[in-house]
Order: sequence, then C-alpha cells, then structure tokens
Amino acid sequence: MPTSQKPEVVVITGAAAGVGRATVQAFAKRGAHIGLIARGGPGMDGLEGAKKDAEAAGGKALILPADVADATQVEAAAAKAEEEFGPIDIWVNVAMVSVFSPFKEMTADEFKRTTDVTYLGQVYGTMAALRRMLPRDRGSVVLVGSALAYRSIPLQSAYCGAKSGIRGFIDSVRCELIHDGSHVRLCMVQMPALNTPQFGWVKSRLPHNPQPVPPIYQPEVAAEAIYFAAHSKRRELYVGFPTIKAVVANMFFAGLLDVYLAKTGYKAQQTDQPASPDRKDNLWAALPGDHGAHGTFGSRSRTSSPALWVVMHEHKLAAAAAGLLAGAGLAAIKKAR
Ligand SMILES: NC(=O)c1ccc[n+]([C@@H]2O[C@H](COP(=O)([O-])OP(=O)(O)OC[C@H]3O[C@@H](n4cnc5c(N)ncnc54)[C@H](OP(=O)(O)O)[C@@H]3O)[C@@H](O)[C@H]2O)c1
Repeated sequence: MPTSQKPEVVVITGAAAGVGRATVQAFAKRGAHIGLIARGGPGMDGLEGAKKDAEAAGGKALILPADVADATQVEAAAAKAEEEFGPIDIWVNVAMVSVFSPFKEMTADEFKRTTDVTYLGQVYGTMAALRRMLPRDRGSVVLVGSALAYRSIPLQSAYCGAKSGIRGFIDSVRCELIHDGSHVRLCMVQMPALNTPQFGWVKSRLPHNPQPVPPIYQPEVAAEAIYFAAHSKRRELYVGFPTIKAVVANMFFAGLLDVYLAKTGYKAQQTDQPASPDRKDNLWAALPGDHGAHGTFGSRSRTSSPALWVVMHEHKLAAAAAGLLAGAGLAAIKKAR
C-alpha cells in the first residue's frame, strides 16, 4: 500500500472501458493522479467518462489519447503524464482487442492487429514505464493477463497467443531486473471471465453473440486485484478459483483439455442470441459513446472471489494460524504439566 501521503501517479492503458475503467476508479478512490490511455473514439466519450469517474472518486485524471500498438504514441503519453503529475509510480497495462473466429478464417491483418495491441501494447507500455522507473530504482508495472495465458481456448488464437506471449516476455525481463538488483517490480495478474463491454464490440465471426466463459466476475473484482498487485511483491496473481483451476488442470491434463475445449469451447463462448449482420467492432478504431466498466452479463456475474480474498489476506491468515497453533501448543504443555 502507498507509504507516503503524496498521491500516487498511475498510468492505465485501456482506461476508457471495462477492467481499465474499473481500475481507474479503484486507484482514484485512494486519491491517485491517473494518466488515462485509450484511443478514445469520436468525442473521447469513454475517456471523458473515466476522467469524471476519477474526479468524483477523489482522484485527478489526465486524458492521454493513444493507440498502444504505436510505441511512439505510448512514449509521448508517458512523457505527458510525468509533465502533469510528476514521476510515474505505477503503470498498468490493460488495453486489448481480440477477434472471435476460427483460425482458418482469420486474415493476417486481423492476427497482426490483435498481436500489435494485445501483446506489443503491453511491451511498449512496459518499455515506457521502465525507461522512467529504472533510473529512479522504484516503481511497479502490472500486466493484465488471463487464465488463457496458460490454457488457450478455441476461436481466440491471436488473443491466447498474445496473453501467453506477455507471460514469456515479462518473465525474461523480471530475470534481468533481478540480475541488475533493481527494486522495480513486475506483476502479471491472470484474470477469470469478466463482465466488460468487450463482448459487445469485439470483432466476431461467430453465428451468435460472444460471451465470457462462465463463471463471470464483475470488473471491480479485477480492479481490486490489480490495485493489490501494484503494491505487492508478487510476481504473479491468479484471480478467482476458475483461474487457479485452469492453470493447474492444464499442468496435468493439457491433452484432455484440448478435447474437452474442442467439445465445449464453441458453445461456451456464445449466447443464444444470433449475431446481427450490422454488428460494429473496435478492432481498428474505438467505437463512439461511453461504454463504462460493465458489460451486459451483470445478473450472471459474481461481485467477489473468496479465492482472491484468501490470497490478498494470506499474511494475516498465516499469522492467525500461527497464533492458534502457538495457543494450542501452550495449552497442551500446561495440560501435560
Ligand atoms: N473481459 C474478460 O472476460 C477478460 C478475461 C480475462 C482477461 N481480461 C483482460 O482484461 C483486460 C481488459 O479487458 P476488457 O474485457 O476490459 O476489454 P474491453 O472491455 O474491450 O476494453 C478494452 C479497453 O482497451 C482500450 N483499447 C482497445 N484498443 C486499444 C488500443 N489500440 N490502444 C489503446 N487502448 C485500446 C479500449 O478503449 P478504446 O476503444 O477507446 O481504445 C478500452 O478502454 C485485457 O487485458 C484482457 O485481456 C479480460
């Protein structure tokens, strides 16, 4: 948690909607000064909405329109954030796009665009952050990942490739920081399915509307995990029991899961509603309007995760368990006397 009274300076990519938007609120309610990166779209409605949220929650925010697939734009946004707020303490990489499609129907351009935004966007964000944090020897970078970084599913080959790519990339950089004796921290947070606007605007070739694979969590669960990760010394955080299950199951039963997901993964990623032929997507440019943090699956979404709670409180739980054990030991000694 923050150690000084000075507001933390935070940059969040993908801040206009979904997890990024909820993360803005999580930091703003603790008084942070936040650089908001997203493309924004005509009128910048999502970014303006995120700024209003931040100010209403007690933080400050600066709109930094940028496409994270362009390293120059990301670097310029980082420079502007520091000009306005001072040294960046925390950088959170959230922005993403995807294409829901069988690989055999994907175009090379779609695959490249998904990789450029979802993988290289996090690489460029981390570069801009480390360029500033390493000389100061302080700061924290959070990379938002997914259970799909460990266990790929059908119909999202580019996205799954990007998420597991981030894991490979950041583990390498972490070794370098340890080698250099750096105090800058890197944490990847692996998320479960979340109720965000993603499924309403992701490019899709599926016959029915896309949906997150249940169980689904509200984005505020993800945002609190990101806030926690940014202030912890962990290298990685698994959010929710479904994420832990996916990681562990893939470790032991990868082949069986290939078959299981081949059978269930198509249906699980679609609602019963046929997709409209006029469906708009956000692959190449942001859509107009303010879409906020939530998608349309609120009634099916969980607002908390007991597994995450245990992880976030494990030091206190360990201390309590040690206390109980010590108490039981003393009682046993007394009785024996
Ligand atoms: N939702 C889930 O089920 C789920 C599950 C596991 C992990 N995650 C992870 O959570 C993170 C957020 O996902 P989400 O579901 O919140 O996505 P989302 O609802 O689609 O929101 C994506 C955000 O990224 C921004 N963005 C998209 N392309 C961009 C670009 N080229 N440059 C800059 N910003 C861009 C969007 O704003 P603009 O359009 O204005 O640019 C928006 O703010 C991702 O890292 C994702 O992998 C999500």
